[in-house]
Amino acid sequence: MDIILLGPPGAGKGTQAKKLVALTGIPQISTGDMLRAAVTAQTELGKKAKAFMDAGKLVPDEVVIGLVEERLKEKDCEKGFMLDGFPRTVPQAESLEQMMNHLERKLDHVLLLDVEDEELVNRITGRRTCGKCGAIYHLVFTPPPAADTCTCGKKGLDQRADDNEKTVRERLSAYHKQTSPLIDFYGKRGLVRKVVGTNSTPEDVFASAKRALGL
Ligand code: AP5
Ligand code: MG
Repeated sequence: MDIILLGPPGAGKGTQAKKLVALTGIPQISTGDMLRAAVTAQTELGKKAKAFMDAGKLVPDEVVIGLVEERLKEKDCEKGFMLDGFPRTVPQAESLEQMMNHLERKLDHVLLLDVEDEELVNRITGRRTCGKCGAIYHLVFTPPPAADTCTCGKKGLDQRADDNEKTVRERLSAYHKQTSPLIDFYGKRGLVRKVVGTNSTPEDVFASAKRALGL
């Protein structure tokens, strides 16, 4: 199954992707995670991406398209893939279509996680993540079992550099201007499965997502 998780920052793409990976074994491909790894490793690509990410702006299309093109050729994608945070612009979606034509594959679903802006700001400013296993928490909605400690045992959870209110507003604006046109792009292709996430727990969203994806 080849799917895209589409939705604004904080909609729960990463949270739902982890649940779907556990259920299906299909790999999650998060361009945000790949870019953050490049920033931490201080690669040329990471240095180029950092200023855009810190400002809440999209990294240029050619940078992320190259990353995804290489990743989709890896062996674990043969059984399917779950794109999280890609595509984010119409040119990225067109490139993905070309890549998939070359690979003789067809997208099955675009899972749209729909959440209102004010809830997104609360979710993102309260997010904490584990630098060891990648678990995602929220200080209020889904807190770690013990303060500042992950279930995997790692002490000291991280807050992303772009998870402050000012940058979140920029990211939301980028989503509405540059990414939301993809709802129409994939709607015309009959691929959009919408799940409403406002005032809904991660477990309830997961139940709706499974229904929407026929799982
Ligand atoms: P990326 O890392 O993709 O960030 P994003 O799209 O802004 O999305 P987030 O990861 O912030 O949110 P999410 O939907 O994964 O939510 P999560 O599950 O964590 O991208 C970062 C940056 O990289 C971009 O700004 C851009 O610069 C660059 N970039 C990446 N891809 C790019 C591309 N294709 N093109 C160009 N640039 C690109 O949940 C959020 C919080 O809410 C957590 O605390 C979680 O616990 C909580 N939560 C989740 N679900 C619920 C629920 N149902 N109820 C209550 N709380 C919930
Ligand atoms: Mg994410």
